[in-house]
Amino acid sequence: MLSSRHILGMDDLTSEDIARILDTAESFAAVNERRIKKLPTLRGLTVVNLFLEPSTRTRTSFEIAAKRLSADAINFTASASATVKGESLRDTAATLAAMSCDLVIIRHKYAGAPRMLTEMMDCSIVNGGDGIHQHPTQALLDLYTMKQRLGHLEGLRVGIVGDIAHSRVAGSLVPALLKVGAIPVLIAPPTLLPARPDVLGAEVSWDLDEVLPTLDVAYMLRIQMERADGMPFPSLREYARFYGMNSARLAAMKPSAIVMHPGPMNRGVEISADVADSDRSLVLEQVESGVAVRMAVMYLLLGGADSGAAA
Ligand code: CP
Repeated sequence: MLSSRHILGMDDLTSEDIARILDTAESFAAVNERRIKKLPTLRGLTVVNLFLEPSTRTRTSFEIAAKRLSADAINFTASASATVKGESLRDTAATLAAMSCDLVIIRHKYAGAPRMLTEMMDCSIVNGGDGIHQHPTQALLDLYTMKQRLGHLEGLRVGIVGDIAHSRVAGSLVPALLKVGAIPVLIAPPTLLPARPDVLGAEVSWDLDEVLPTLDVAYMLRIQMERADGMPFPSLREYARFYGMNSARLAAMKPSAIVMHPGPMNRGVEISADVADSDRSLVLEQVESGVAVRMAVMYLLLGGADSGAAA
């Protein structure tokens, strides 16, 4: 069990919760290596994927995770639902509540939409990404991936590079790193940093090349033009020149250092194609970890720990 019945942001998780999720995910990762990957753990429970913004990785991995645990997984996207007819989120939530589901994962363009659901529904709610606010299961799978490759989390220096101002990934990753004793370093041009980065408790730099040799992880963020108000830098080419990960920058990092990206990637902008496809890039390991970590989250939220059926 976890200390909260919802995961809306990293504030809902203690350091002990995070350790429990990462340990449980290891058991599920072993299950995912088997030919038969299905467990009966959540049989009879209903999980709704309420994705009102586009997603490939998060929606698919939550669906696979639910199915591997034998839950009934219902997928609900904006284009195939009554939201295109103008139904409000409040009415959508009330409608789903009337159908007695056990867990809702919501992605929405507005920060705070997952919290609103907790007021409307009597089941567990997981934030699958809300506006520029948080994306907590992304941060959990990132921690899991770093730990698997580097062996530990405490003391790691993790540079989070790029569009921090519009990034819900950074919004969860910074507090997640602080909770496990790692050191987040925000690296971006001033126009892509939040107004008060110091409140996040992270180090801040405008100079990627100066910081790179000190990092254990370079975590590259997608430039989110869809959320930017105007062009926050002269050109994408200029951005790539100062803040893009490329083979020369990779060579300047420690030999053990790794590169991560939550996806989807803008190849040639925040990360070059050769680095994205190199063995120092953990992009696909992050995707793979997403299934095991989301299985762990569902299992622990829905009381699976009491059944003793993790593996
Ligand atoms: N990282 C991530 O959230 O990817 P999707 O938008 O594809 O879910």
